[in-house]
Amino acid sequence: MIGTIKLKDGSEFPAFGMGTWYLGENPDRRAAELDALRTGLEEGITLIDTAEMYGSGLSEELVGEAIRGMSRDSLYLVSKVLPSNAGGDRLEKSLDASLKRLGTDYLDMYLYHWRGSYPLAETVSKLEAMVKKGKIRRWGVSNFDTDDMDELLSVPGGRNCCVDQVLYHLGSRGIEYELLPYLKDKNIAVMAYCPLAQGGDLRRQLLTSPVLQEIANKYGISVMQLLLLFVLHDENVCAIPRSGNAQHVRQNVQAASMKLLEDDYKTIQDAFPAPDHKTYLDIV
Ligand SMILES: NC(=O)c1ccc[n+]([C@@H]2O[C@H](COP(=O)([O-])OP(=O)(O)OC[C@H]3O[C@@H](n4cnc5c(N)ncnc54)[C@H](OP(=O)(O)O)[C@@H]3O)[C@@H](O)[C@H]2O)c1
Repeated sequence: MIGTIKLKDGSEFPAFGMGTWYLGENPDRRAAELDALRTGLEEGITLIDTAEMYGSGLSEELVGEAIRGMSRDSLYLVSKVLPSNAGGDRLEKSLDASLKRLGTDYLDMYLYHWRGSYPLAETVSKLEAMVKKGKIRRWGVSNFDTDDMDELLSVPGGRNCCVDQVLYHLGSRGIEYELLPYLKDKNIAVMAYCPLAQGGDLRRQLLTSPVLQEIANKYGISVMQLLLLFVLHDENVCAIPRSGNAQHVRQNVQAASMKLLEDDYKTIQDAFPAPDHKTYLDIV
């Protein structure tokens, strides 16, 4: 059973979903990727995270194909606007193009992908206008650290930001020092991207750690699944692993319904400690 996070607007946000970066770009993998996304939907995942940037729209098109014919109410669609499109009349045009590729008339969540040169007040006013028009239900940001958040919350409407999507996995725990508690305090949910450290590529030691392997064995799961359990241990965090492999998606859904015992959580934390000081926000 996939949990939910209560957002500040009172709505329920799925605590688990499917990422889609790189999906839809390779025609040879398309069938397997569609199968993976549809398997996730059949297994009870509702949230799909995509972006206009991914494959310059190809990922959104793939998602559109995967969800075709499904009841819109049963889905939670998240997409993102590029910084270069986050102001003027560009934001609405970008959003309209995303909606068209996805084959829907609204997004459940629209994220400002990362900060660019448009003033935050302008981007927020455009996002709020899209909420009023019914094209998005709510909005959030991505790759915002605490100083960006402070600025965001000070502009008109900025407090309506519902989530911050940031890089977070066991091998990169910098956000635990300041950003995670800050967001919890402001009632802003966290979407953890790269929760699997990109299949271990971002921190190879995760795959070779005897400590992780031993705990994974104890639960009868893989180290990849264990990485998901780590991220999901925080009840304010949603994880969005990406997979183009239906079997991996099934494993990820299974992990999303499990819980780590506190002792094991602590052992894992000790093996890959969080920094004891403020660090730059990791991004990919
Ligand atoms: N806001 C941002 O700036 C930002 C940046 C990066 C990512 N994101 C979002 O976050 C999502 C997740 O991040 P990510 O795609 O970079 O990396 P990730 O989810 O950490 O890792 C994806 C890799 O893990 C593998 N994998 C997935 N499940 C597995 C399993 N059960 N066992 C073994 N391997 C498994 C996948 O391979 P297979 O396909 O073979 O399963 C893929 O190579 C993205 O897709 C995107 O939606 C957002």
